[in-house]
Amino acid sequence: MPNQYDKEVILVVDDNIITCEVIQRNLEISGFHVFTAHSVNDAIQILSRQEIDLLITDYKMPKHSGLELIKYVRDHFQDICIIMLTGYGSINSAVAAMKEGADEYITKPFTDKELLDAVGICIQKQKEKRIDPALIYDETWARFGIVGQCQNMLEVYSKIEKTCKNDAIVLITGENGTGKELVARAIHYHHKARSIYPFIPINCPGIPATLFESELFGHVKGAFTGAVQHRKGFFQAAEKGCLFLDEISELPFELQAKMLRVLQEKEISRIGETLVKKIDVRIIAATNKNLEDLVEKGVFRQDLFFRLNVINIDIPPLRDRGNDIILLAKHFALKYAKELGKTEPAFTDKAISALKEYFWPGNVRELENLIHRSLIMNDEDIIDSVNFPDIMKFNVPYNQHLNLSLEDMSKKYVRDIVEQTGGNKAKALKILKIDRKTLLKKLK
Ligand SMILES: Nc1ncnc2c1ncn2[C@@H]1O[C@H](COP(=O)(O)OP(=O)(O)OP(=O)(O)O)[C@@H](O)[C@H]1O
Ligand SMILES: [Mg+2]
Repeated sequence: MPNQYDKEVILVVDDNIITCEVIQRNLEISGFHVFTAHSVNDAIQILSRQEIDLLITDYKMPKHSGLELIKYVRDHFQDICIIMLTGYGSINSAVAAMKEGADEYITKPFTDKELLDAVGICIQKQKEKRIDPALIYDETWARFGIVGQCQNMLEVYSKIEKTCKNDAIVLITGENGTGKELVARAIHYHHKARSIYPFIPINCPGIPATLFESELFGHVKGAFTGAVQHRKGFFQAAEKGCLFLDEISELPFELQAKMLRVLQEKEISRIGETLVKKIDVRIIAATNKNLEDLVEKGVFRQDLFFRLNVINIDIPPLRDRGNDIILLAKHFALKYAKELGKTEPAFTDKAISALKEYFWPGNVRELENLIHRSLIMNDEDIIDSVNFPDIMKFNVPYNQHLNLSLEDMSKKYVRDIVEQTGGNKAKALKILKIDRKTLLKKLK
């Protein structure tokens, strides 16, 4: 972007026509422009004619493989993000793809959500590649590519700095969308020794219980029915690099003991093999839950919690970051303005105060989406609260009124709404969904 379609353009390459069509349909519904190709040669033809933002390619194809296509794209188009589709259980090919420069991989069969999540991550990365790096790495208000300069965030940076000098297990905690994965990646990519090796994220709730060992430790050919060839597990794939155990709280209880054992003994053996191998992998885990509570409830093992909680980086929610909210809003505004071919937008006073007062349940991700949407909605290069969702315009500023009783809060809310609607009682009644009598009582 920007391009003639005014959308991100994705090229899907798979020799299976039906797979291509299904992916194409899903991506088009989500607002992307999609080209498809059924062979590497066709894909190269399209790449020579069209500007492509993201390539999604199958691994196994007749004649030339997806790996060859990745090499070609990396040699010719640095900017294009790449997602590799691999058959179930072929971690070897996934690792090969990552080494050649793929950004993400998804194993077949995948859900629509998995596909869209991976696409989202890549599009984001791709935008960051194209954005002025001076903006992102400006040390005065961002570190490690993470925007923010409030005291809370300075503490996060200082912990990142310490953790990239050693191999200790790190537990990253924080609400949804606060930047847990961003911090995990920052730790990995700033580690002197490990950054050149893979960073492999594992979504813990996605590991099927019956395949836990095979997924994590791998297996040898013939170890069980269906084990038709040797296969590396995640631990081997991440050798010398980092394994990111995302949503660790969702790891089924019966698997927690197994995970603990690996982390303690730091050795694994593939299924069907007696040979025990030492592993050299950095572990970073993340969760948006309070693990101590889960331990108390008996759904998370205390011993695993202690093992993981060596260094805890707790990322503050956006509402506790003071002026960083504005900094982040401006960062995203500049980023999306460039992408949309607009000049850097100015923020109206109303927009600034709405941003500061909102509760931000979705944190940074929600803020980013809001700014992006506002820029698209507004023809002029300004950001105004008029383009914000109603919940923000009429929101009670929670963070300033945490000590109000429900009754007082409700009165204040009613007054706020009346004020926001410019004293138009009919409008206020519609929003509040109460009758006129109640309104008048509250206003008294
Ligand atoms: N401080 C920051 N500066 C710039 N971008 C940020 C910052 N924090 C988060 N983001 C962006 O916000 C989005 C959400 O971040 P990320 O995925 O790391 O959060 P998360 O905590 O892992 O979310 P979830 O709880 O959904 O797993 C990403 O696009 C990320 O790049
Ligand atoms: Mg995450």
